Amino acid sequence: MKITKICCIGAGYVGGPTMAVIAQKCPEIQVTVVDLNEERIAAWNDTDTANIPIYEPGLDVIVAEARGRNLFFSTNVDKAIDEAQIIFISVNTPTKTYGKGKGMAADLKYIELCARQIARVAKDNKIVVEKSTLPVRTAEAIKSILDNTGNGVQFQILSNPEFLAEGTAVTDLLHPDRILIGGDPSEEGKKAIQALVDVYSNWVPAAKILTTNVWSSELSKLTANAFLAQRISSINAMSELCEKTGADVNEVAKAIGMDSRIGSKFLKASVGFGGSCFQKDILNLVYIAKSYGLNAVADYWEQVIIMNDHQKRRFSNSIVQTLYNTVSDKKITFLGWAFKKDTNDTRESAAIYVADDLINEHAKIAVYDPKVSNKKILGDLNYLETRNAEANANSVRSFLDPYEACQQAHAIAILTEWDEFIHYDWQKIYDSMQKPAFIFDGRNLLNGPELKAIGFVYQAIGS
Ligand code: NAD
Ligand code: UDX
Repeated sequence: MKITKICCIGAGYVGGPTMAVIAQKCPEIQVTVVDLNEERIAAWNDTDTANIPIYEPGLDVIVAEARGRNLFFSTNVDKAIDEAQIIFISVNTPTKTYGKGKGMAADLKYIELCARQIARVAKDNKIVVEKSTLPVRTAEAIKSILDNTGNGVQFQILSNPEFLAEGTAVTDLLHPDRILIGGDPSEEGKKAIQALVDVYSNWVPAAKILTTNVWSSELSKLTANAFLAQRISSINAMSELCEKTGADVNEVAKAIGMDSRIGSKFLKASVGFGGSCFQKDILNLVYIAKSYGLNAVADYWEQVIIMNDHQKRRFSNSIVQTLYNTVSDKKITFLGWAFKKDTNDTRESAAIYVADDLINEHAKIAVYDPKVSNKKILGDLNYLETRNAEANANSVRSFLDPYEACQQAHAIAILTEWDEFIHYDWQKIYDSMQKPAFIFDGRNLLNGPELKAIGFVYQAIGS
């Protein structure tokens, strides 16, 4: 089947960049990204691509090239579904906040709404692609809805999980380690798989396109995120032991990473992992394991989350303890709020939880992040519902200038590894702070010996 029209439901961190790259690499395919969120679609259509709603290095250039040519952003979901041969579902699948599985299971209500809308609108055969991260066997539910509420047309369901990481989304999409496509082994299923393989073949080498059955594909995504997060929790567990024993976690990570069986990536000790995926996907995995009665499996993976929560709490406790057991009315400056560098995404960022702990201790938090607004910061804290919005607004203030943010601070905490922090005039910052001037480097980003020579009391993770 020759694909000429693709639709993607969900213009978020995955749908937007993924479809922009497909459009750039497949100029003969018309790609329409749709969303219910009018503000988001308007931002994607902003004439100045600097204002697109997602910050990713290089994305503005790709959008500028393809938008209006074969890449379109729209709120007209029905029209895009009707016209497309392939429909990607790339909507959010957050952790449930109510009912059965609350706090663990994935909330699939947006997925189900998409399936029902596709069933209602589709008047000819469609390939429906799960791009969102989903519990294993979700395709079964989608198929059941499509087949039972549709107009008698045929649907093929494929699983095509996305492995991009934020901050490097464009590079990851242009040069993926692999593309995973799961589908039905029937003849029709094979044709659908081939149609999607052909789309990716426009820029991805054949050897990197892996096809499997649907369940393996769905479960591989959860497994990949669980393994990645587990490495971070493993090195973070070691960081605490390093602090007690005189070992240095950076040296330990280097030493073990040179073992080719272990590998050097994803061994950076930190204040704890954040982001919209790791915690959500592991909780989901734990929930699935429990639902099959596999309690040992569930407990094993849950430890990754327990360790991560411990690491965030340990960081805030250490700030309080080091500042003579009180941070009440002390100005503590956060450099960074995003969950990692090169993104404006703050979902599950460690900064939110560390700030929440310190506000409980009556600290005054100043924040500088090159890409995160004050509104977003307050929104993140309000979402926790630890205290009312007014109390949060009185405890946190963000600055557009990092030097101003650090003035008169008792301590600086590095929460995100933005490159620009390395090159600051640290002598100037030291001179403007209360003494002793403390730095808590939650990312092991800065040059400790240099900062100590200036006069800072410098604490890193795991040394
Ligand atoms: P997001 O919240 O940024 O975007 C989802 C979008 O879907 C929102 O704009 C929302 O308005 C829209 N939406 C929801 N229901 C809709 C409906 N019925 N019709 C039209 N639009 C609808 O989420 P995201 O970060 O892009 O993640 C999407 C999925 O991809 C999730 O399952 C996530 O786990 C997975 N994923 C995310 C990443 C990542 O780095 N963010 C990486 C890999 C996989
Ligand atoms: C992750 C997966 O990497 C990606 O494949 C998947 O598609 C979505 O989830 P993302 O959450 O965007 O991507 O970023 P990632 O680079 O994985 O970082 C996640 C968190 O772990 C960040 O807070 C990061 O700072 C932290 N991290 C990462 C560490 O603390 N140490 C490391 O060594 C690596």
